[in-house]
Amino acid sequence: MDEWKLAMALLLTLSALRTSSSYRYASDDLRIDCGSSLDQTKPQPETYLKWKTDENFIKTGQNKLLPTNHTPAQLNTLRFFPKGRKNCYSLPLFTQYYKFLFRAGFLYDNYDGLSKPPSFHLEIDGHFWANVMTSLSEEPVFHEFLYIIQEKQATVCLVRTNDDEVPFISSLEATAQLSDSYKFVDNKTALYLHSRINYGAKKNVEQTIGSLDECCNRIWKSKTMPNYLNIHSETVPDGYLFYENTPPWPVMAYAIQAHNVTESIYLTVDLSPKTAVKAYLVLYFMDPIRRFPPNQTSSVEIYVDSVKLAVKDVPTFGSYEDMYHVATLFPVWVGGSVANVTISPAEGSTMGPILNAMEVFSAVDVSEGGRFSDFSALLIVFLHLLFLCLNCCK
Ligand SMILES: *[C@@H]1O[C@H](CO)[C@@H](O)[C@H](O)[C@H]1NC(C)=O
Ligand SMILES: *[C@@H]1O[C@H](CO)[C@@H](O)[C@H](O)[C@H]1NC(C)=O
Ligand SMILES: *[C@@H]1O[C@H](CO)[C@@H](O)[C@H](O)[C@H]1NC(C)=O
Ligand SMILES: *[C@@H]1O[C@H](CO)[C@@H](O)[C@H](O)[C@H]1NC(C)=O
Repeated sequence: MDEWKLAMALLLTLSALRTSSSYRYASDDLRIDCGSSLDQTKPQPETYLKWKTDENFIKTGQNKLLPTNHTPAQLNTLRFFPKGRKNCYSLPLFTQYYKFLFRAGFLYDNYDGLSKPPSFHLEIDGHFWANVMTSLSEEPVFHEFLYIIQEKQATVCLVRTNDDEVPFISSLEATAQLSDSYKFVDNKTALYLHSRINYGAKKNVEQTIGSLDECCNRIWKSKTMPNYLNIHSETVPDGYLFYENTPPWPVMAYAIQAHNVTESIYLTVDLSPKTAVKAYLVLYFMDPIRRFPPNQTSSVEIYVDSVKLAVKDVPTFGSYEDMYHVATLFPVWVGGSVANVTISPAEGSTMGPILNAMEVFSAVDVSEGGRFSDFSALLIVFLHLLFLCLNCCK
């Protein structure tokens, strides 16, 4: 009899899966304000950024409004999951085989009054995405993943890892990227973001209401560095540049530069909590200053842990033929959780080396497992139970 009940439960699960995936209005820029009951999808003339409530994307969990106000406002509500090991959002997306940036936000803010910020796992299409460790701090935690979706949807799950810790989520975003950006990302390789830094700048660059500087929902964190010159162009154009990875103008118009042509820029990149990773580094170069007299040559050598991996010319602001150069370094094997990146003047360079921005990812192998194996496991269990039932009913 128990087998019958289980088989029926499985049948119901399978039909539930089918109905939930028949619900589609595909999007290429889906922003979900988890736990919110306020639908902001009504047209807002001044913005093209629309946050949706989450009721159409998940059936489980409970909404909660936080006791204090936060910016951005999406962090003011969350959805928590007191029941079940795995609770999943089903995101209908634009088209398959497309690169998407996924970002999940978490702000605990002691919503349950227990002062016990939980830890849990985040998965996408059955692939491990992150170990989420929340805290009592007012700072939200974000996890970002760049991944080619294999179907016209993605499934994002919160997975309980300790019996007494309840997973929750504050925001969930999925934004299509330009197809040729992050060129070594393919069907088997996804990227987990560690940092994306706009050097020499004092203000983050992100896609906000009224700003079209960032095309694709990336957040470029500003960072000035006291040991180097923090330089920028006289005027900062609006919008983004059109070549590799389409960086925003306010990212390329700011940079750090070593004081002179005999000095290097020394940076450490932190890949923790991961260790022994295949890193994916993207460095952006453009001299934001028009030099006078214009007879200078700028080019740089890039070293990771003392190994020279690339040499790049640094074009000058306003050279329209050749606006900026990008060094994409992949795969870079990093033994520990920290790597040393050195930008040195190349031979013939007459200026201190320059760096505008750097993105640090670790590569994630998504060729194995995932949704298909989840489903086939389910199917095998189901067939097994069917077999048992047929036997016991004879
Ligand atoms: C991913 O796989 C699909 C189907 O095999 C293929 O059409 C697509 O071009 C692949 N994309 C990349 C970036 O490899
Ligand atoms: C280059 O800059 C460094 C650091 O500011 C300084 O110690 C060094 O003397 C400078 N070298 C030259 C040739 O100006
Ligand atoms: C650039 O030109 C100026 C003046 O013509 C000269 O003094 C300087 O040495 C030149 N610099 C380089 C790097 O050739
Ligand atoms: C990185 O640089 C620091 C300081 O120079 C050094 O102690 C460390 O061993 C370097 N790490 C690697 C992996 O080369």
